Amino acid sequence: MVCAGSGGVGKTTTAAALAMGAAADGAKVAVVTIDPARRLANSLGLEELGNEPRLIDPERFTEHGVDMRGELWALMLDAKRTFDELIEHLAPDTRTRDEVLSNRIYKQLSNAVAGSQEFTAIAKLYDLDASGEFDLLVLDTPPSRNALDFLDAPERLTGFFQGRAVKVFLRPAGFGGRILGKGTGVAFGILRRVTGVDLLNDLSVFFRALGGMIDGFVARAERVGALLADPGTTFLIVTSPRHDPVEEAIFFHRKLREAGMPFGGLVVNRVHAAPELDGELPGELVEELGETLAGRVATSARELAALAARDERNIDHLRSSLDDPPLLVVPERQDDVHDVEGLAHVREHLWGAAAMQDSAA
Ligand SMILES: Nc1ncnc2c1ncn2[C@@H]1O[C@H](COP(=O)(O)OP(=O)(O)OP(=O)(O)O)[C@@H](O)[C@H]1O
Ligand SMILES: [Mg+2]
Repeated sequence: MVCAGSGGVGKTTTAAALAMGAAADGAKVAVVTIDPARRLANSLGLEELGNEPRLIDPERFTEHGVDMRGELWALMLDAKRTFDELIEHLAPDTRTRDEVLSNRIYKQLSNAVAGSQEFTAIAKLYDLDASGEFDLLVLDTPPSRNALDFLDAPERLTGFFQGRAVKVFLRPAGFGGRILGKGTGVAFGILRRVTGVDLLNDLSVFFRALGGMIDGFVARAERVGALLADPGTTFLIVTSPRHDPVEEAIFFHRKLREAGMPFGGLVVNRVHAAPELDGELPGELVEELGETLAGRVATSARELAALAARDERNIDHLRSSLDDPPLLVVPERQDDVHDVEGLAHVREHLWGAAAMQDSAA
């Protein structure tokens, strides 16, 4: 299950609450986050999460009235570490492996290749899936990135490895020979003398070692792409009921459909409920509060009513644009969601009785 959506709408919160709900119901679940802000770790009450799944102590949930019948595992993806593991896996021998891992160009590249974070996220999912250890994998996608990066990350990376740049480097004549004119060679020579860095050598070692691994990379990227499109995969689009995220959700949904990816439903998070108070404050309340305070309360109530009406309009727009999709609503909480208790509340709206009511409505 991939939780996607625009920045700050509650992807991490939703991923954690969904994973927690499925685990409470008896499944063995792993929730994978890429959030460097450690929001997931924090809300689960942990200092940090590693690159390998870690079982969350069920006691943590029992304390907050959540009976954990299954297991919740969590990990925070380290893109660089996952890339390294991939090299370890694909390298034909230990010499090549060490050559690549210690290579200056590799070190830069593994951090910089466009989409490498998204790619490694899915590569990790692929491994977790292949391990057969878990009933459900929930992926929280990176903050404030274009959610669409996820869809074409495998393709983009394959494109990079099969692209002209890499092929040029891999020509038998070698990098130093044909591609660079004599002048550039001299420049590299000076660079080496001045800085002690043999860039040319780094480059050719890197691409030579990489040459043997390209097929492995491409095969991996293809399998990862297939995993995303697998009917067992579900994309959940998370959004807030505001104008811009709603438009992005509609756009993302269209892209999902065009890419043939499985869409599961929508989670609209932080929805304002209309205040029960309608119009004027009751006389006794005005007496109790005094004119000034009562005036402010009335203003607040009006503002909240306006927000609730706006949210409702945007949700209606979303429903009709997506042809009445499966949709769950999570209300705006007074507090933000930063601990197990907060997650337990959100879970109520995703799994519990409240979710049943909402979806019936
Ligand atoms: N229903 C809610 N009510 C109140 N606050 C919420 C609710 N859901 C999420 N929040 C708060 O909103 C903030 C953003 O949530 P979250 O980190 O889950 O979003 P995100 O989509 O993962 O953001 P990013 O794109 O930065 O990764 C957090 O401070 C979280 O506690
Ligand atoms: Mg997040």
